Amino acid sequence: MNADGRTRLNQTSEWTALAKHREELGDVQLRELFAADSGRGTAYTLRVGDLYVDYSKHLVTDDTLRLLRELAAATDVFGLRDAMFRGEKINTTENRAVLHTALRAPRDAVIEVDGENVVPGVHAVLDNMADFANRVRSGEWTGHTGKRIRNVVNVGIGGSDLGPAMAYEVLRAFTDRSLTVRFVSNVDGADLHEAVRDLDPAETLFVIASKTFTTIETVTNATSARGWLLDALGDEAAVAKHFVALSTNAEKVAEFGIDTANMFEFWDWVGGRYSYDSAIGLALMIAIGPDNFREMLEGFRIVDEHFRTAPAESNVPLLLGLLGIWYGNFHDAQSHAVLPYSHYLSKFTAYLQQLDMESNGKYVGRDGREVEWQTGPVVWGTPGTNGQHAYYQLIHQGTKLVPADFIGFARPVGELGDRLKAQHDLLMANFFAQTQALAFGKTPQEVRAEGVPEELVPHKTFKGNHPTTTILAPELTPSVLGQLVALYEHKVFVQGAVWNIDSFDQWGVELGKVLAKRVEPALTEGAEVEGLDPSTKALVATYRELRGR
Ligand code: F6P
Repeated sequence: MNADGRTRLNQTSEWTALAKHREELGDVQLRELFAADSGRGTAYTLRVGDLYVDYSKHLVTDDTLRLLRELAAATDVFGLRDAMFRGEKINTTENRAVLHTALRAPRDAVIEVDGENVVPGVHAVLDNMADFANRVRSGEWTGHTGKRIRNVVNVGIGGSDLGPAMAYEVLRAFTDRSLTVRFVSNVDGADLHEAVRDLDPAETLFVIASKTFTTIETVTNATSARGWLLDALGDEAAVAKHFVALSTNAEKVAEFGIDTANMFEFWDWVGGRYSYDSAIGLALMIAIGPDNFREMLEGFRIVDEHFRTAPAESNVPLLLGLLGIWYGNFHDAQSHAVLPYSHYLSKFTAYLQQLDMESNGKYVGRDGREVEWQTGPVVWGTPGTNGQHAYYQLIHQGTKLVPADFIGFARPVGELGDRLKAQHDLLMANFFAQTQALAFGKTPQEVRAEGVPEELVPHKTFKGNHPTTTILAPELTPSVLGQLVALYEHKVFVQGAVWNIDSFDQWGVELGKVLAKRVEPALTEGAEVEGLDPSTKALVATYRELRGR
């Protein structure tokens, strides 16, 4: 029994039933499942918004799905979901509400935190952002010397970088191509150097994105960016025209020297990795314009509403979360690949890594006890078809089970032109061929029938049975991006709820931050730093020697 009165997850009858069911299924083959049910390819599909989701190529039967849903019911996933949407403080270790869904709520919605409706504030900030974005885009907002802003550099890290950077790539075709938009995150000076080396400071706007405004990487890069600007413009007053801040911490913003009139606010109930549809999306909004940004928010909202209201049988985030649990907890899968067949989604999986791994990479449950079951998977992947020529070999013929999501689009992005649009069918032929090959493989008989010499038959045989979800959308639009992100946000939520972990804190990131601060004087001044282990001590000494200190 848990301290909170709940039965330990792995002692519930629902968990035990799933473990037994897994044993009974043994090494059930997708070939068998499809042979037994000719309607499976259409029956095991769902729609949400513009997304067509095929989960037929999973190692599941109706019984599996029912048992998984029973687990969700026993762990009260929908109860926690409702508490989240209501603004209850479900992030218990930080005593905070979890309300990224309020960021895309309609103007007339009422969502209260501590008795206060947060929705008017959300829309006030969105309106301010839109006003500012329009002024930059139109040239009305100029730099200190009166030159038009042509470059926008977002400085932030983690959730203050990955979301807007990802979405900017995804929606490139919707951006104002006359603007140069770049993202700087790494405290490695090379990142800022490469981002600004060919830019004119008089035409450059820095957007400093940091929820806390204390993150060392961001504050360091922002300070260097200010130095770079002032070296060229030579007047402190220039900062007001070239720096804006996105933060929850007005005090620190002012301390840094940015006028809080140039600050776009958000709130502690928005987690960093859930924040790019808040003020953190300002650079994105400048790039794509307020209308496209709002269309993206509508996409989020479609999936929020679906997650909030759809019954368990047709609830897509619930289904995807439960499928992950099926593989992670009952098949020992360690990782989960997300493989988008769109070059524009090149940063999508990197974004999901933070969303998923920072949320569910936890071994302590909400009750403060260590869990006795696997939690979040390693999330990885890059766009097809590139991955096919790199690591798909391991997925097809390696020894590890890698469940994967394939994300593709029926129509190519409009501006590609006819010649490049014609390549889209080849891209998508690969998309469909891969999930088929992964599911059904190639039997030794099929290989022999091709006249392959006997000694090569085992090498050319594909066992198949590799589970995949296919997500197909008509076209990559701002709304579809919002739908996809919300889908994964809620999938991660479902898994955290079942595993009984707090998906909204990130204490694990803190230790490294604290240690880095402690080690730095040893590098710069050769200071005797307490608590350095012998290996690190020797490494630091070698570093200083190589650095010429
Ligand atoms: O990496 C830890 C983290 O706290 C993330 O959760 C967050 O997105 C990132 O740092 C950046 O934090 P901030 O926006 O406060 O600079």
